[in-house]
Parts: sequence; structure tokens; C-alpha cells
Amino acid sequence: MAQIIVVTSGKGGVGKTTSSAAIATGLAMKGHKTVVIDFDIGLRNLDLIMGCERRVVYDFVNVINGEANLNQALIKDKRTPKLFVLPASQTRDKDALTKEGVGKVLEDLAKDFEYIICDSPAGIETGAMMALYFADVAIVTTNPEVSSVRDSDRILGMLQSKSKRAEDGLEPVKEYLLLTRYSPARVTTGEMLSVQDVEEILAIPLIGVIPESQAVLKASNSGVPVIIDQESDAGMAYSDAVERLLGEELPFRFLKEEKKGFLKRIFGS
Ligand SMILES: Nc1ncnc2c1ncn2[C@@H]1O[C@H](COP(=O)(O)OP(=O)(O)O)[C@@H](O)[C@H]1O
Ligand SMILES: [Mg+2]
Repeated sequence: MAQIIVVTSGKGGVGKTTSSAAIATGLAMKGHKTVVIDFDIGLRNLDLIMGCERRVVYDFVNVINGEANLNQALIKDKRTPKLFVLPASQTRDKDALTKEGVGKVLEDLAKDFEYIICDSPAGIETGAMMALYFADVAIVTTNPEVSSVRDSDRILGMLQSKSKRAEDGLEPVKEYLLLTRYSPARVTTGEMLSVQDVEEILAIPLIGVIPESQAVLKASNSGVPVIIDQESDAGMAYSDAVERLLGEELPFRFLKEEKKGFLKRIFGS
């Protein structure tokens, strides 16, 4: 049975697309056949982060409208075997995503894939609702600041009331907290909420803490999911999150401010 995982948040710009690309890549690197779908119609960010934007011919909406089949629209990742991208269209209107259409595409994908990652657009309108409607698992991506936590709380309400699982009275969507752009230094100065603060407010299990990292921008500029960069703190933190998603128990890293040692103070880091 395929697992449908939505990467959601409510708020925009918190790291959903970065996380979708990293988690999908991480699952495929672990040998699981995975597809990542861009639900952000009109924006098309995912294919840039995955570095496959020049290969887009057909997209999600073409498939829904029957203008192309899945085989024509899926883009095979050039680095990671077992990884595929279903891109969003750039121009079409957001109403192109219908429950029936999306449901049919997910059903077809489920025959062939182990994991289906849905990269949600921001907000709580159609696109975001479609991305979460069919989910088995939700990765609630949150930055350690009040507005982001508030919007994540709102999305938790949606998952519990507007998802298919809620409608059908099934076991609820499994919710996980992914804290991104975490900066221990700014927690110390009181500018940001701590991991404990956010966990306490949202009260869902923590699946990962991704540090604020230069590596993310560098990776997205070169169209390589940051998890590929295993030298980087963010890359390692995403690997840990993927392992936890697969059931491993790992200690959390990068939660404390790195105190610069004597040599680092003199020579830089
Ligand atoms: N851990 C991180 N460290 C630094 N920058 C990050 C991190 N995660 C995301 N970003 C940056 O934040 C911005 C928004 O990320 P994105 O994944 O597009 O968010 P969303 O999909 O939620 O809108 C991008 O510029 C991205 O490079
Ligand atoms: Mg996005």
C-alpha cells in the first residue's frame, strides 16, 4: 500500500518545498520508490529545487484533464533511482485541481509507488486542501515563530476535520511536526520559540529539526535537494527526519548553539 504524505503548513515560505524535495529524495535513497507532486499550481517551485525544470513537458493538470498520461508527465530524477517528480503547471487556474481528478491520479500512482509526497501550496484554499485531503500522513512544517505556529495549528484543525480520513471516519491522519529554519542562537536571545515551546503548543510528535543553513540556498540554486549534501547540517538533519519517518529512533542534532572553540575563533569556521 502506498503511503500518501502531505507536506503542509498554512503559512508560505516556511520550507515546504525544500522539505518535500529532501524527504522524497531521502526515501528514494533508502530504496523506496517515491514520487513527489507539486500542488502549487501557478508557481512551479518544486521542479526548480529538484533541478528538472527544463524537462517539464506535461504536468499534473494535463494528467487530470486527460491531455497526457502519467507516464508522459512523470519526470525520472537524474540522480536518485526510484525517484520521480510530477510537476505543477505554471499557467493554469487553481480550480484545475478537483477532488475526483486528484483522487484518480493518486489512485493510479498508488499502484506503482511506495510513497507519494504532496508538496502543498500555502494557505487553506483549494490547492492546499487538495494536497491534504487524501493524506495518510501530514508533515506539518513550521518555523519557530508565533505566526507560523498559529497557521500550523490551523492546518491541524483542517487535517482533523476536512481530510478524507476524517470524512470517512477512519483512523486520523498521522501528524508530525517538522521544525525548519531553526536557529539556536536566536532562541537564546529570545527572538525565536524553542523546540519545546513549539512542541508544547502544537502537541504532535516531532519528526525533525532542520537548522537555518546556508546549504539550503546553495542547494536550491544548483537544483540539488539539500539532503544530497551530507556534509551540511541541514542535509544531515533531513536524513534523520527520513529515518524517523521510517520508524527509527534517533537523537535530535543541531539543537544547541555551536560554541566556537579556540581554533575556530582564530581561524574562522
Ligand atoms: N533550513 C533552511 N535554512 C535556510 N533557508 C531555508 C531553509 N529552509 C528553507 N529555506 C529558504 O526559505 C525559502 C522558502 O522555502 P520553500 O521551501 O520554498 O518554502 P515554502 O514551500 O513553504 O514556501 C527559500 O528561499 C528557501 O531557500
Ligand atoms: Mg512551496
